[in-house]
Parts: sequence; C-alpha cells; structure tokens
Amino acid sequence: MSVAFLLNGTPVRVEGEAPTRTLLDWLRDTRGLRGTKEGCNEGDCGACTVMVTDAEGSRALNACILFLPQLHGKAVRTVEGISGPKGEMHPVQAAMVSHHGSQCGFCTPGFVVSMAVAHLNGDTGHDDALAGNLCRCTGYAPIVRAAEAAAGEAVPEWMVADRAAVAGFAAGEAGVFRPADSDALAEWYLAHPDAVLVAGATDVGLWVTKQLRELKPVAFLGGVEDLKGIEVRGGQLHVGACVTISALREAVAERLPSFGEMLRRYASVQVRNAATIGGNIANGSPIGDGPPALIALGATLHLRRGDEMRSLPLEAFFLDYRKQDRRPGEFVAGVSFPERAPAFRCYKISKRFDQDISAVCGCFNVTIEAGVVTSARIAFGGMAGVPKRASAAEAALVGKVWTEATVEAAAEAMAGDFAPMTDMRASAGYRMLTAQNLLRRYFHDLNGVGVSVLEVSA
Ligand SMILES: Cc1cc2nc3c(=O)[nH]c(=O)nc-3n(C[C@H](O)[C@H](O)[C@H](O)COP(=O)(O)OP(=O)(O)OC[C@H]3O[C@@H](n4cnc5c(N)ncnc54)[C@H](O)[C@@H]3O)c2cc1C
Ligand code: FES
Ligand code: FES
Repeated sequence: MSVAFLLNGTPVRVEGEAPTRTLLDWLRDTRGLRGTKEGCNEGDCGACTVMVTDAEGSRALNACILFLPQLHGKAVRTVEGISGPKGEMHPVQAAMVSHHGSQCGFCTPGFVVSMAVAHLNGDTGHDDALAGNLCRCTGYAPIVRAAEAAAGEAVPEWMVADRAAVAGFAAGEAGVFRPADSDALAEWYLAHPDAVLVAGATDVGLWVTKQLRELKPVAFLGGVEDLKGIEVRGGQLHVGACVTISALREAVAERLPSFGEMLRRYASVQVRNAATIGGNIANGSPIGDGPPALIALGATLHLRRGDEMRSLPLEAFFLDYRKQDRRPGEFVAGVSFPERAPAFRCYKISKRFDQDISAVCGCFNVTIEAGVVTSARIAFGGMAGVPKRASAAEAALVGKVWTEATVEAAAEAMAGDFAPMTDMRASAGYRMLTAQNLLRRYFHDLNGVGVSVLEVSA
C-alpha cells in the first residue's frame, strides 16, 4: 500500500500498512494525533469524527471505520487542524468555551469537528448534524447553543484551504486495487471472485474492528466514478451503487419526501456520508432501511458480472437470511425506481429517534382509483430473515374499497405474511402488532390525519 493524502494541510504518504488499517488507529498510534478519540470503535459515538475533503466537498466521517486507502488523494483534517496555524481558536471552539459545552471533554473533539464541518458547509440543522455525536455528561442544549452562536461567525481561511489544496494534489498510485471505473472493477472481480468489495466500509469496517477479521484481497470502490451517478430517465431515478446515503437523501428529499425523511434517521451524518446504497443492498441485512423502501417503490436492481448485465425486481435478490441472488464475481451496479410516488410512505420504528437501527421498518405504496385499491406494494424490514413484501396483506387490499374495514382485514391477513423473531430490539409480538399498526397509520396518513410522532418538540 502506498496511500497519499493531506493531513492537516501537509502531504503524507503511508507505506507498509495493511489496507484495512483504520485512520483512527493510524492517527493515534503513528502520528500521535490523539485528539481523535476512540469511543465505540464501530461508528456509533462520533468521538473519532474527522473532516475529509475531496472534489465533491468537505464532510464529517468516523475515523474508526475508515480504512486508509479510502483517503487516497483526499484531505483529512483532525481536531488538531481545526484551530488555526498560530493556535487561533475556531469559532465553534470559542463558542463551546463560552457556552459551557464541555464537561469531561471526551466527546468534545468529535463534536468540535462535526460542528466545524457544518459551519463550513453553512448547515444550520444542528440537531441532525450532531445526532452522530454522543455526549454523556454535558447534555446537548449547551452544545447546540454553541453551534447556533458560532453559525454567524465567518469561516476561518484555514478551513477552506483544503478544497484548493486537494485539487492540485497529485497522489499517484495507491498500491491497492482501487478501480477508476466499473469496467476495470468487472474485469478484476471476475478474476478475484473471493475478494471483499469495500464501498463505504460502514459494515466491512466492523468486520475488522469488532470481529478482528483479516480481509484479502480487497477492492476499494471509492474511485468508481460511473457508479456514483444519479440520473432521471423515463420517470425513473437511476442510482449508482456507490451513491452515498447522504447523496441519495438529497436526491429523494423533494421527489419522495417520506423516503427522504426516513433517510434523515438512517444512522448519523458521519455514517450516511460514507455508506452507499449498493452496500446497503448487497449486505442483505434483514434490518437495512434502504431495501424495504425501494421494494415498496417497485425498484429494479442492476447487477454486473464481467460484461454481462442483468436486472431483477429488488425483492427477488433476497433469497434467504444473508443469502442473495449474486453469483461469484458479480456486483451491484445500481438500482432504479419511480421518480415520484405520491402515496408512498415509510415509517422507521426504533428505540431512539436518531442514530438507531430499525426494529421494524414499514413501507407502503398503494394506488387508489375512484375509491378502490388498484395496486398495493407493502414491504417490511425487521419482520423476516430478509426484507420482504406483505403479500397476503396486499392481496387483501387490491380490488377493495379503501375503507377502515378493508385495512382491518388486510392487517389481519398480515399475520400470515410474517413469523418475526424476538431479539434485543423487539419481541415477535411487538413486531407483528407494530407492523399491523403501521398499516393503520398509513390509512390515516393518506386520509390527511396527522400521524407524526414528533408532536412533542423542544
Ligand atoms: C453506526 C452505524 C449505524 C447504522 N445505521 C443504519 C441504519 O440506520 N439503517 C441501515 O439500513 N443501515 C445502517 N447501518 C449499516 C450500514 O450503514 C449500511 O448497511 C450501509 O449502507 C453499507 O454500505 P457501505 O457502502 O458502507 O458498505 P460496505 O461496508 O463497504 O459493504 C457492505 C457489504 O456490501 C458489499 N458491497 C459493497 N458494495 C457492493 C457492490 N457495489 N456490489 C456488491 N457488493 C458490495 C461488501 O463487500 C460488503 O459485503 C449502520 C452502520 C453503522 C456503523
Ligand atoms: S469511536 Fe465511536 S464512532 Fe468512532
Ligand atoms: S463532555 Fe463528557 S461525554 Fe461529553
């Protein structure tokens, strides 16, 4: 490996490290940059937040699940680089002091980096920007007050320098397989079908940090430009596999607002900035949030193996628990789905509002013409070993008048669709009742009754 990037404005080249060495470990162990903290080491707490800049802009990422090759050709700014070259405080740091935003201080560097990135990007949605940073002792009110106070201050010049520096930075060869397009990926993966593809590493990172797995060979998909596109063609959104959840959220926010709102609650800013929709589909998790929404929308999955492309309805991809219809050497190229679906809604149920995995995720897309249901697509995560349609409930709706009685009959039919499990997130009984109640909620939602769970707001 011979990975090059800018670290706090200075070019560095890293050689002789394993390609799965995390940025967090490398910063702390070899550079003595210990302001970047290790809390959970799995993407949950934000103590390790760093700023990463490339041609697309600057974003907050979790260093604990970021492999060094993912940084090739980019600029990294740690908390040590957030203050100025002469030790000047960044406005968010000064505001944290004056608003008493820190007590034990363990979480503070991570908060400061997240706040500085939001400040740089003019993002004033402080609650969302900080949802991926956990504070155990200060409490969020003083921290949010600090972010609000700093928002009016000018962006320091050292914070914008990375953008220009990265444009003129020649990183050279990375010494790891990092294809520039999907043709190169297709050829290599066919020859190395046992390889691990690393997209955002928000799943694969944990295989290394928590399961201590050694991965090889590895391909890094971060440079595959032709899989990062989002296009509208023939009323369909075509989304490349390497599109991040943040970019997807932006694309659907206005077109499919319920999907956009659900993605706001998908993990945290740091995770959404890394995680890709291709990784979310390919990992085949029964509790992933992307697949149920896409299945309810009637999405088509596009796969590629060598020169061969094939497409299938997304639900057909998920065969059994963690078993997908993907052949050796075949990868997810993209997914397409209707650009608009006025009756589409998705509801994510989790113990915490922010940054939590779904216990149940229910997605609904029912067409009603002259009061009669003409088509129904209902899909759930968390109800089976795979993301799955509620076929019996759908059948109970189609052809019927859209009334509460019809919906009750469909909710009863849903009992035959799933045999959910009990685990730490929810019991089987809770899951089934919740799924049925989400259908009832959907009925009221489509009828214009307020169903938001956010009635209580600060
Ligand atoms: C703190 C935290 C919170 C999370 N919260 C949520 C949440 O709220 N909702 C949710 O749905 N998920 C959540 N996740 C899970 C994770 O973010 C997603 O599954 C993510 O979308 C995976 O994408 P990735 O690009 O990071 O995949 P990676 O980790 O890079 O890869 C995941 C798997 O997919 C394979 N893969 C990647 N790209 C391709 C491709 N193009 N073709 C074939 N195989 C491929 C990899 O080889 C690997 O097997 C969370 C994760 C963390 C760490
Ligand atoms: S250490 Fe908790 S997110 Fe990285
Ligand atoms: S100040 Fe102690 S965890 Fe936040």
